[in-house]
Amino acid sequence: MVKLTNLSFLLMLSFSSAYKILVVFPYPGKSHTILGEGFVKHLVKAGHEITYITPIPIKNPPKGLRQIDVSSNKEIFEVMSHVLSFEMVLKKEIDLTDMRSMVRIVYDIANQTLWNENVQKLMHDPNEEFDLVIAEWLYTELYCGFAAVFNCPFIWSSSMDPHGLVLELIDEHPNPAYTTNHVSSFEAPFTFSQRVEELWGIIYTKYVKWAYLNDHENQIFREGYGPAVAKRGRALPSLYEVSHNASLMFGNSHFSSGRPVRLPQNYIPIAGYHIDDEVKPLPKDIQDIMDSAQHGVIYFSMGSMIKSSSMPDEIKQGFLKMFGSLKQTVIWKFEEVLPNLPKNVHILKWAPQQSILAHPNCLLFISHGGLLSTSEALHYGVPIIGIPMFADQFINVDRAMKKGFALKVDIVEDMTVHLKAAIEEILGNPRYHERMKELSFIYHHRTVTPGQAILHWVDHVIKTRGALHLRSPALDVPFYQKIYLDLITLIAVATIVLFRIAKRLVCKSAVTKKVKKN
Ligand SMILES: *[C@@H]1O[C@H](CO)[C@@H](O)[C@H](O)[C@H]1NC(C)=O
Ligand SMILES: *[C@@H]1O[C@H](CO)[C@@H](O)[C@H](O)[C@H]1NC(C)=O
Repeated sequence: MVKLTNLSFLLMLSFSSAYKILVVFPYPGKSHTILGEGFVKHLVKAGHEITYITPIPIKNPPKGLRQIDVSSNKEIFEVMSHVLSFEMVLKKEIDLTDMRSMVRIVYDIANQTLWNENVQKLMHDPNEEFDLVIAEWLYTELYCGFAAVFNCPFIWSSSMDPHGLVLELIDEHPNPAYTTNHVSSFEAPFTFSQRVEELWGIIYTKYVKWAYLNDHENQIFREGYGPAVAKRGRALPSLYEVSHNASLMFGNSHFSSGRPVRLPQNYIPIAGYHIDDEVKPLPKDIQDIMDSAQHGVIYFSMGSMIKSSSMPDEIKQGFLKMFGSLKQTVIWKFEEVLPNLPKNVHILKWAPQQSILAHPNCLLFISHGGLLSTSEALHYGVPIIGIPMFADQFINVDRAMKKGFALKVDIVEDMTVHLKAAIEEILGNPRYHERMKELSFIYHHRTVTPGQAILHWVDHVIKTRGALHLRSPALDVPFYQKIYLDLITLIAVATIVLFRIAKRLVCKSAVTKKVKKN
């Protein structure tokens, strides 16, 4: 009986620590909403009250979840997805690795989010309060402003491997002499020219931001959040102050797939948190296909960003013919029905990717190399052939190749030939599979699961009112002090002065000697 009361007391205690958390993931890309939903899923399950700003609301939301619909953000993205096509990458009409053109779109989406009617209502309602904000960083710091509105701690979520642009928000820019920037695929130790290139990358990015982007970003920040903060009787701090005031950063990264980076103590790697703890059963038809695949299954999906139906006909037909010549079964996620399918090729408009990768017969994943797909491949131990098209996919695939669990195929006219060679190499040579098993072990070998890490750190930040004890002292030290420019200047000036004095003394004594002699 005593035990029972203790138990109910404990339950009450744990129940009373339900937090109100605002999760901000307004970027209208599928992979970003998957990351946002990852947080929502873990936090709702733990009994917290979640408000989720999203362009793609979850259907049948669970109890404890309130969604703020910003689906109007998709309009900007629609325009963009007309611009993105397989064919344009093939013809090199568009260079999707260029960051500058992306940033403008990102700002537009942020501004549109802030001015969205539902978001305005949330910000201006004096009864709305939160214990914590979790906001996505994606080439803009703008979403940190919600923490200023609700006067609560906040946590950054970074969707990529840790890099200078995000690390300087919680610590400092890592040293370019041995740390790659977010678009580089060099590997330390660098050669002289690589080291210079890394440094130049930082200077150039800083210059572009300062010259072309800062004013615009600050204006969106002031106009978007200013009135709501004023209404609550406070003054809005600068974007710089707020953005460098996060309690932690959750990173969708892990050292099994990323490169080694020296990290501040409030960077928490949680790659794989979007993956369900339990594998969902496959639909009957796919289960049958995979069970009966005697020679194993190759799974082919180019993700959701660029429609594979924008692929030129010759390449589609070439792929089909080549897949047809393989003894393995091929499951191809594709948006259109193709005629004359070979017997071993199955096209799915929608594919339960995780459950397919989890099937023991799945031998190979042909992917665009997005970070989520790469995590899932690591999680289930399936080697990759990467066909990168966009943004960080190039470095993800390069890195996976260097780690030995992937091969890369570029989008070129005769890519079918290269793809076939890559398939034969990966399936014929056991080293890729073995390497993947090793890395998959490292990936899984953690003190707690990523979901448990999220719950722990969220609790920690709220209970310690912002976890100020985790902050890096580097945040408050100006750059000139870090490189001791003041000391160097002092030594230089002192040396010059001493030199001058010494010179004068020498001259003087020479003169006196002369005078004495005479
Ligand atoms: C910084 O964060 C702390 C803790 O969350 C908070 O008390 C403080 O008001 C914040 N300062 C600024 C300028 O946002
Ligand atoms: C942000 O959006 C609002 C409302 O649509 C618009 O009035 C404003 O000019 C935009 N701000 C910037 C900096 O683009």
